[in-house]
Amino acid sequence: MNTRPLGRSALRIAPLVFGANVFGWTVDQPTAFRLLDRFVDAGLNAVDTADVYSRWVPGNRGGESETTIGNWLKASPARRSQVVLITKVGAAPGTDGKGLSAKSIAAGVEGSLRRLQTDRIDLYLSHRPDAESPIEETLRAYEALIQAGKVRAIGSSNSTATGLREALDTAAAKGLPRYEVEQPEYNLCERKKFEGSLQDLCIAEDLGVIVYYSLASGFLSGKYRSKADLEKSARADGVRKYLNDRGFRILKALDAVAQAHRAKKAEVALAWLIAREGVTAPIASATNLDQLDSLVRATQLKLSAKEFQSLTTASD
Ligand SMILES: NC(=O)c1ccc[n+]([C@@H]2O[C@H](COP(=O)([O-])OP(=O)(O)OC[C@H]3O[C@@H](n4cnc5c(N)ncnc54)[C@H](OP(=O)(O)O)[C@@H]3O)[C@@H](O)[C@H]2O)c1
Repeated sequence: MNTRPLGRSALRIAPLVFGANVFGWTVDQPTAFRLLDRFVDAGLNAVDTADVYSRWVPGNRGGESETTIGNWLKASPARRSQVVLITKVGAAPGTDGKGLSAKSIAAGVEGSLRRLQTDRIDLYLSHRPDAESPIEETLRAYEALIQAGKVRAIGSSNSTATGLREALDTAAAKGLPRYEVEQPEYNLCERKKFEGSLQDLCIAEDLGVIVYYSLASGFLSGKYRSKADLEKSARADGVRKYLNDRGFRILKALDAVAQAHRAKKAEVALAWLIAREGVTAPIASATNLDQLDSLVRATQLKLSAKEFQSLTTASD
């Protein structure tokens, strides 16, 4: 599998990241182990989680996804060197502070390392901007973790271009580690949060970009066509907003390209992202092995310029 650099960090990843927010939610532990084994055996390597996954499930506290990954690594220790582990801090109050304060980060990393059953996080992300914590304090906290060998590289998620610019400038001015990666929401249905100033900045600054909700929570697979389809899904709230003319136009364009390649629509939607300027890799989750195999096939699918443009035009 060809890998791509993550910004200027020493990390390299295959062009599809496994999204682990399904662990402890729509995927149980035995299935998670099978998905992770199949993913790595297919030559892909990056896994994205967060300290808060999957806190939204009644009865969960957050940390269930990291715990599942940690149990998998404990069961198969050789896997650790085969994966690039990505996790996040700062989306929810921790035990010792909240957001991206130094206290919160110092406490957060220990919890994540414990649950992941590892001594290092390859890529540690600020989950969302925190207006109450000065960016210099946040970057100094990360610097200490990098110096201690607990974190290899840092990045941010859900940044605005202005916020990311400020973080990069502060890092340069103070001699602190910089965010090497940005993780925005981006897919054929949601383009505004990345395209424009944030995309331009990431390209100009040579940042790695791994995008989330790559399948628009499953909508781009084409399996949701009506409100009745939604009733069967735990993801109804995330998908409802796409059931409109534009959404169906995108599905039609995906269908035409998928048929030409004898591929699935989900695979074409991911191939479009993999080919997009400035994108290092889409993040997508899977709840069974068939879906996982689609994620792998997406990395091998090459769209012609005409196909690529037909999808872009349908979603404009
Ligand atoms: N940084 C952030 O703030 C943030 C926010 C959200 C997510 N994320 C990251 O992004 C990752 C991906 O997000 P996501 O999983 O919520 O959304 P997604 O990747 O857009 O949707 C994945 C879901 O679509 C369905 N699916 C996948 N392949 C399919 C196929 N071939 N055919 C039909 N259905 C298919 C599965 O759900 P069902 O089987 O249940 O239908 C799967 O769980 C997360 O795991 C997380 O790591 C980050």
